[in-house]
Amino acid sequence: MSAKRHKLTVAVSKGRIFDECLPLLSKLKAAPVAHPDDSRRLVLATEDADLRLLIVRAADVPTYVQYGAADLGVAGKDVLLEHGGEGLYEPLDLRIARCTMALAVLGGTGLPEGRLRVATKYVRCTRRYFAARGRQVETIKLYGSMELAPSVGLADAIVDLVDTGDTLRANGLEIVESMYDISSRLVVNKAAMKMKHERVNDVLRRCTHALQVEARE
Ligand code: ATP
Ligand code: PRP
Repeated sequence: MSAKRHKLTVAVSKGRIFDECLPLLSKLKAAPVAHPDDSRRLVLATEDADLRLLIVRAADVPTYVQYGAADLGVAGKDVLLEHGGEGLYEPLDLRIARCTMALAVLGGTGLPEGRLRVATKYVRCTRRYFAARGRQVETIKLYGSMELAPSVGLADAIVDLVDTGDTLRANGLEIVESMYDISSRLVVNKAAMKMKHERVNDVLRRCTHALQVEARE
């Protein structure tokens, strides 16, 4: 009796990344059979009988892939920088969900001298960024609404993602340093890259081709 062939499993977060992945999934002939906004199911089959999606929180994608619960995943570079990337390959920039990770302060105040208090959900990134510049920082971990912290005296500065700049402006903040360009990356579990080499490489090849066609259009 032949061993059961397991589907390739891809971890992806709902919202922005899922929506921006849909055109690529369609080009791969792996469009999901349902949209996570219309279904409570966290495992979604796709048009491709050999490929399924796991719907997980954005910050959890690297964890599912690192431990092999998913073979592949789509994660923001911000999330990967914060996670550290252990157990993962990051072979492809999908060029979706693009933004900038930036350091911002209240408008007109500039970056204060001396020890800096920075509120962020990106604590590891922030520490690494400032350590590389020899600057002492105290990080305050937040889970959202970072843009509020300076105006209520919780922090001197924030590290957060910026796209249009609307959220910063609406809260009286301005960028003092752009830290990292962010986009979503396809990540692969290191063991799956070896054990499921053919199928993983096929997905990588098809993604690369679709991205090249898109870049030419
Ligand atoms: P979750 O809702 O799962 O807790 P989240 O709120 O970070 O996580 P999203 O807002 O969908 O989820 O963000 C997912 C990814 O999209 C981020 O990790 C980042 O890479 C990117 N991203 C976040 N905000 C923006 C933005 N304003 N413009 C473009 N890309 C963004
Ligand atoms: C993200 C990010 C910023 C905002 C920046 O939040 O955390 O707050 O987008 O985008 P902007 O420069 O275009 O205003 P999002 O809207 O995804 O909400 P979230 O905090 O719930 O993730």
